Amino acid sequence: PQPSTPTKTPAQNTVARTPNPKFIPDLEINLKAAPKTVQLLSGQPTQVWSYAAELVKGDPNSLQAIPDSYLGPIIRVRQGQRVRVNFQNNLPQGQPSIVHWHGLILPEDMDGHPRFAIDPGQTYVYEFEVINRAGTNWFHPHPDQLTGQQAYAGLAGVFIVTDPEEATLKLPSGTYDLPIVLQDRTLDANNQLLYLNSKIGTPRNTGMGGMGGMGGMGGMGGMSQGNSSQSSGGMDDMGGMMGFLGKQLFVNGQPDFTLAAATRVYRLRILNGSNARIYKLAWSNGDPLTVIGTDGSLLTQPVIRKYVMLAPGERLDVWADFSKLKVGTQLALNSLAFSGAENVDENNMGGMSSSNAPELGAAMTLFNVKIGRAETETLQLPSKLATLPLLRPEDATNAAQPRPVELSLQGMKWVMNGKPFEMNVATPQETVKLNSIEQWEIINKLNPGAMMDAKGMAHPIHLHGVQFQVISRQVLPELAAGWQTVKDGYVDEGFKDTVMVMPGERVKLLMKFDKYSGLFTYHCHNLEHEDAGMMRNYRINT
Ligand code: C2O
Ligand code: CU
Repeated sequence: PQPSTPTKTPAQNTVARTPNPKFIPDLEINLKAAPKTVQLLSGQPTQVWSYAAELVKGDPNSLQAIPDSYLGPIIRVRQGQRVRVNFQNNLPQGQPSIVHWHGLILPEDMDGHPRFAIDPGQTYVYEFEVINRAGTNWFHPHPDQLTGQQAYAGLAGVFIVTDPEEATLKLPSGTYDLPIVLQDRTLDANNQLLYLNSKIGTPRNTGMGGMGGMGGMGGMGGMSQGNSSQSSGGMDDMGGMMGFLGKQLFVNGQPDFTLAAATRVYRLRILNGSNARIYKLAWSNGDPLTVIGTDGSLLTQPVIRKYVMLAPGERLDVWADFSKLKVGTQLALNSLAFSGAENVDENNMGGMSSSNAPELGAAMTLFNVKIGRAETETLQLPSKLATLPLLRPEDATNAAQPRPVELSLQGMKWVMNGKPFEMNVATPQETVKLNSIEQWEIINKLNPGAMMDAKGMAHPIHLHGVQFQVISRQVLPELAAGWQTVKDGYVDEGFKDTVMVMPGERVKLLMKFDKYSGLFTYHCHNLEHEDAGMMRNYRINT
């Protein structure tokens, strides 16, 4: 493949962070983002970008690579542990990067805000104490305008926290405790990853229709570009506007994933690591899903759902009981059909994906489970899980008037509160006080005059720096039909950091900013939306 000429997006911070000799880590890891090739399909190996990790200090069980995959590693820590990660950016020139520890509560300079992105060749040293509750977190790149393509190219890993309370519960452990990372990808005839169709790194404000920043993998690290007849601005605009949807499902960075299981209970830590695809999870045999945890915590007690929604960035901890099944049984985890975008003209949308990928909300199989061996199970689903320090809505200082966050379409770009991302800016309306309890209301507005009739889209909204509770949801009557196809699948119990908001929906969140002050972001976790500017900062003031 011909290397293209990268248009450099300058890193915001050219002085990388160095270690503090006074910080004594329990766990130290070298984490390098670099191109590699991996055999994903038969035939040509696939060029990807991947995190390579090596243990410098600590328990070897803290770090687990996923073989034959672009994904990884899995990092496992205990609450209270001190972690140092020496992040090295070995990506091609023109690809500044920074690691965001999605879900972890961290000081602002440890969190991976885009203003801390480092250029290729540089190292950023993270040093932090894990104060989170037990839960499934993850990490991925977070450079301004380049998050979608870097995550898509393979950069993501899982960060699991345990705590003493969880340890008293008898939950599946060891090989029965499995991360399941769902991602959709499109590979071309030569097994190379296809992303959106424009060239990499064009600044977003100069591209056609303002969406030129949606890069293709073109030429970078050997990743191929969509065929040039599809490289029109309009196509990129649509891809950016709706988000990238891939043709094929990958689980833990592997295609055609089959879980070879025993007649046991499994703890499946399901993460939606897709750029834009939302899933409506259901077992193929009609059994309901038993959910024991969500983004930032275990639940107080298990909840049973016919199906559960999982939008990009969100996690679900599932108690998957195969103990009653017979050896030889096969089942699948499917995504059921639902409506995720309102009034989108199907004919116009046909051109959105260069690859005729299934549209948002199409039914598909995510992975198969084969029960291959009999084992005796002794675990039982605990009736009580975690004691959570839940807040009451009336504890908020602004219970009468929650802080509004409006999602709307401006031209071809989704924005929050009417403004695109500004790197170092938080307005007075985006400033909160340390130790205050607030309600926020995410309002997914209708866009009646929108181009292509994109009246509304589901947006997964993620807040850095805090874990929140979802306290209420409401929907505009005219958009109730789409909402009905998903609403019974929301798991709003427990603590979350990412919340799916359907077209015409208003969701109230409740949160306490009780740990660190500083400048953090909140944004849509549809990564194409984020890269196009559907992101803002907020400041936690002392
Ligand atoms: Cu997982 Cu700011 O994102
Ligand atoms: Cu969005």
